[in-house]
Amino acid sequence: MASDSQPPAPKGRLISHFENRPAPSHAKAWSDLWDSGEDSLWDRGMPSPALIDLLENYQDTLLHPMATQEGNGNGNGNGNEGQARKRKRKRALVPGCGRGYDVLTLALHGFDAVGLEISGTAVSAAREFAERELQLSSSGPRANAKYFGEDFDVDRARARQLGLETGTGKVHFCQGDFFDDSWLAELDADEDGDGLVGGRKFDLVYDYTFLCALHPSQRPHWARRMRDLLRPGGLLVCLEFPMYKDPALPGPPWGVNGVHWGLLASEFSRRVYVRPRRTFEVGTGTDMLSVWERRGEGCGC
Ligand SMILES: C[S@@+](CC[C@H](N)C(=O)[O-])C[C@H]1O[C@@H](n2cnc3c(N)ncnc32)[C@H](O)[C@@H]1O
Repeated sequence: MASDSQPPAPKGRLISHFENRPAPSHAKAWSDLWDSGEDSLWDRGMPSPALIDLLENYQDTLLHPMATQEGNGNGNGNGNEGQARKRKRKRALVPGCGRGYDVLTLALHGFDAVGLEISGTAVSAAREFAERELQLSSSGPRANAKYFGEDFDVDRARARQLGLETGTGKVHFCQGDFFDDSWLAELDADEDGDGLVGGRKFDLVYDYTFLCALHPSQRPHWARRMRDLLRPGGLLVCLEFPMYKDPALPGPPWGVNGVHWGLLASEFSRRVYVRPRRTFEVGTGTDMLSVWERRGEGCGC
């Protein structure tokens, strides 16, 4: 505890950058940090071990990357009605994706993945980074080893994604504000997902250090937006951080201990809640991982 004779601890750079700014200007304030090259304040420089383990532990069940879509029921008239069913990749969104490690992790595990960033500088950095990282995968599936768990069987995972040439989904980065719809128009080009990652609803949204980056007054808006962006039965995956910080203290990052339940329990069912065995050093022993299923028609919950 600080005594009167000790100077108060210096305020973190992030906290002083955001203090005294009204919440509606925070998105621009994040963009300014990207433009002044200060992303090392939050960039962990590696994919999330907790997300990798979750995707691999649930690869055959909750987090299977393929969906089966009912076709128009016509079949081909020779008794092979099964052809009317179409297998396609599920679609994932990472809002506030930064350099895009989580977008690549999801794509390398078979999802078509969209990264969303308010900052144009971040989107350029993410596109360049993804191009370099995904080029590696053409030299063999193990070339991207840091995106997989040690025991993950890449060949088995690919075999399960029947009929697709590659085990890697598409990657697309959009510039836009999570809270408005303008960036969704970019994804309308191909509702079938045969070209760009198409459509306005997602099967999965992943949040790491996005909620904690937002001013607490925006949290109810965050929860409503998550609900609107997910299809019924879609999953919101949250790596909850920072859990060690008193939620009354200034951010970002704003402490989130106890926050997710209050925001999500009325519209989502919590399907998984675990302390991840592996996570970033800064969250080891305190991070929690939660998976929330959006309730609503057709979700079977
Ligand atoms: C703490 S950083 C985390 C970045 C990334 N998730 C990571 O782990 O490296 C929060 C990110 O959210 C972005 N951001 C903030 N407000 C946003 C908004 N309204 N819409 C989209 N992105 C936003 C910022 O530009 C920043 O890159």
